[in-house]
Amino acid sequence: MKLNIKKICCIGAGYVGGPTMAVIADKCPEIQVTLVDLNAERIAAWNSADLGELPIYEPGLSEIIERTRHKNLFFSTQVDKAIEEAEMIFISVNTPTKNYGVGKGMAADLKYIELCARQIARVSKSGKIVVEKSTIPVRTAATIKSILEDAEGGLEFHVLSNPEFLAEGSAISDLIDPDRILIGGESDEAIQALKDIYQRWVNPDKILTTNLWSSELSKLTANAFLAQRVSSINAISELCEKTGANVDEVATAIGMDSRIGSKFLKASVGFGGSCFQKDILNLVYIARTYNLTEVADYWEQVILMNDHQKSRFANHIVNTLFNTVNGKRIAMLGWAFKKDTNDTRESAAIYVADHLLTEMAQLAVYDPKVSASKIYQDIDAISTRSSEENRDLLSVHLNPYEACRGAHAVAILTEWDEFKEIDWQTIKDNMLNPAFLFDGRRLLDRKEMENLGFKYYTLGE
Ligand code: NAD
Ligand code: UGA
Repeated sequence: MKLNIKKICCIGAGYVGGPTMAVIADKCPEIQVTLVDLNAERIAAWNSADLGELPIYEPGLSEIIERTRHKNLFFSTQVDKAIEEAEMIFISVNTPTKNYGVGKGMAADLKYIELCARQIARVSKSGKIVVEKSTIPVRTAATIKSILEDAEGGLEFHVLSNPEFLAEGSAISDLIDPDRILIGGESDEAIQALKDIYQRWVNPDKILTTNLWSSELSKLTANAFLAQRVSSINAISELCEKTGANVDEVATAIGMDSRIGSKFLKASVGFGGSCFQKDILNLVYIARTYNLTEVADYWEQVILMNDHQKSRFANHIVNTLFNTVNGKRIAMLGWAFKKDTNDTRESAAIYVADHLLTEMAQLAVYDPKVSASKIYQDIDAISTRSSEENRDLLSVHLNPYEACRGAHAVAILTEWDEFKEIDWQTIKDNMLNPAFLFDGRRLLDRKEMENLGFKYYTLGE
């Protein structure tokens, strides 16, 4: 097996595969990196001459693509060819929650992972290092290994687990300066080959090696702990509202304890994103399959708290608007699950919108990076009502002023920086009175908003 890697292939050109391979290509000019995907539209967008058309928005990404694309970074739909040529293959396909059969709504759907393993086994003419980049249940490497072991020709394959810890919106800086790189594996040589790649820009002290199962389980555990912090502070936010405490003050006070730490303690309308919920559900499912009921119940509570936070924010809007929003215009600022991304998967905004639409509100949505078609696609996907009804009740606008004009209330769902810079006086002047402002991100200053004449509510005080 050749361990001085010159050709890498990554299967799955999504939110992880795209930025991760772009950074590897940028840091390792002598390595040829090919990203492949079955989704031809996505690959065409990655190859688009207009960098504004890239399928993913991440600060700093387009500059790296501009430097590396067609030099040592390539995007293609020719999966077999790229697999055959590569010495190291990253699997970075989606691992969504299963929506059918056994484990429906809980377990990770590993069909895409298995298809990749089978394709690698079928196509390979030489041994390869196969790297699990996707987030997968602990012991998935055993499945991949057993499929690869059955490949014809007795080729030598090594499976490594190398979970990705980047957060969307800061993907590039997270990749360039990671807290740690985790590599789990059984072959020292294969581990070293992957280490050699990261060591071009990551301090070796930050590269941690473990056994395969610890690495796989660490990824689910990291996401569970992060999500748990958000649910914990959100639980306290409700208590703050009842007692006169202020959740930011509480967060600062507890965060100064170095054992607790100050990060990830921002109360919000609830965490979203493609991973926290699916990974915790997966963890809960795994625990249940081992009959670890208390362990499963413990982690499930993180999700239940998150669901509660989303619905209590939506309920609060309805209750404050005199218990009915029927026919009332409510402007929603933000649709992405967090700022600096165009990703809307599991965004709290979708669930708040669905709740308000069920109450027959007229929603006027604005998000700086999410298109109208994506917003309609998200709300249609919930299947609560027909797409015609969704289009009757929900409109999408090109700027916040248009969205808020004539509104009974404004709700902030995503913490985009530009929402802080809005001319809130103009917004207020063009709204109906009383002008309600529901801040689901604790983005604005209460005094300032009240001085402008808003009836201001924010979570956690
Ligand atoms: P994504 O849906 O954006 O991208 C996955 C891509 O894989 C899709 O474009 C899909 O078409 C492609 N694909 C699926 N099966 C394929 C196959 N057999 N051959 C070729 N292409 C195939 O997903 P993502 O957000 O990039 O996440 C990928 C994995 O990384 C998931 O397991 C996720 O949990 C994990 N992860 C995601 C993040 C994140 O911030 N999004 C962070 C860390 C880890
Ligand atoms: C998260 C993790 O942070 C990454 O380490 C991990 O790699 C990734 O999931 C994954 O596996 O997919 P991401 O979901 O992109 O990254 O973004 P986060 O910054 O973690 O935010 C997740 C959600 O929690 C967002 O909706 C955000 O608004 C919310 N959040 C976060 C809060 O409400 N409060 C906080 O203090 C922090």
